[in-house]
Amino acid sequence: MKNIILTADRPTGKLHIGHYVGSLRERVKLQQEGNFDKFFIMIADAQALTDNSGNPQKVRDNVLEVMLDYLSIGLDPKKITFCIQSQITALPEMTEFFMNLVTLPRLLRNPTVKSEVAMRGFDKVGMPVGFATYPISQAADITAFKANIIPVGEDQEPMLEQTREIVRSFNRTYNTDTLVECKAVLPENEASFRLPGTDGNAKMSKSIGNCIYLSDEPDVLKKKVNSIVTTPRKLEEPGVIENNVLFIYLKALCKDEHFAKYYPEFANLNELEVAYQKGGLGDGKIKQFLYNVLMDIFTPIRERRKVLQTQIAEIIEILKQGTEVANQTANQTLLEMKQAMGIDYFSDDTFKNEQIEKFSNKQ
Ligand code: TRP
Repeated sequence: MKNIILTADRPTGKLHIGHYVGSLRERVKLQQEGNFDKFFIMIADAQALTDNSGNPQKVRDNVLEVMLDYLSIGLDPKKITFCIQSQITALPEMTEFFMNLVTLPRLLRNPTVKSEVAMRGFDKVGMPVGFATYPISQAADITAFKANIIPVGEDQEPMLEQTREIVRSFNRTYNTDTLVECKAVLPENEASFRLPGTDGNAKMSKSIGNCIYLSDEPDVLKKKVNSIVTTPRKLEEPGVIENNVLFIYLKALCKDEHFAKYYPEFANLNELEVAYQKGGLGDGKIKQFLYNVLMDIFTPIRERRKVLQTQIAEIIEILKQGTEVANQTANQTLLEMKQAMGIDYFSDDTFKNEQIEKFSNKQ
């Protein structure tokens, strides 16, 4: 079987460190390992519109921001096909056929959709149909490319489960093996599954304003790290690690070499945690260390982004060509689906000859 990697992000803002540890870092690793036949990354603008229908400018403005974030972390357009979802015309067609294979109760049972509904207040004002059905269109995003490896944050697991169900249902119903089942590649360390916001809120989210962005300048970064909410205590009192945003970030991001470089009193995070829990170690020191770690990781990324910002025409060309390639692949899959369903009337003479034959027998 081929290894086809696909993933996507909604262009509703710049990418933040939650994206980085949740999925972006994993993509760079997959790229380096090189164990794939094709690798697609899609900017999911159509999905972004399912809860931003009144704000297309925001989506438009963030297409390039997200693309710059991708390239600045080292994702390589020579190895990866970058494309824009709304320009891949087979996707909504595939979605239409998949909708017949999913019941409404099944769709609405999706826990990620449920929490998004609450966050966006759709439970009060009513949920747009397009939003309710986005997991089905996400199944089209994945299956159009016959992707089997999906590097995503763990909140996307329900979407992949739904996708696998659709794949099985389609292949069974139309007696075909056209569509391929996928699985998630999750971050290796559990602290990276879902980074809390700097305010301690369960999720880093642009709308709450509790994010640290990959492209934040040092002064902004400093302010944000200093603003991280921790439990007040006297210095000599024992520190608490559980649900401590500083330690969750460190767990997701710091390596032993960061200690050697910036905090040589300790060899690794474990030693720091033990000392912190004994007491006598203030949060200010931990914040300073976290700031150094963030600077160490994100300074080269930020610098690369500045160079890339001078190459916008070339980057748009990369997206345009990638989208063309994506269209070819998706159109081919759509054709195979239509063949399986017997609705490929004009792709060759089969339909014509069969119908001529049928009606000639009735003369
Ligand atoms: N739902 C994903 C998110 O919010 C974005 C997405 C759209 C996606 N299509 C996809 C992810 C296909 C993986 C595969 O982040």
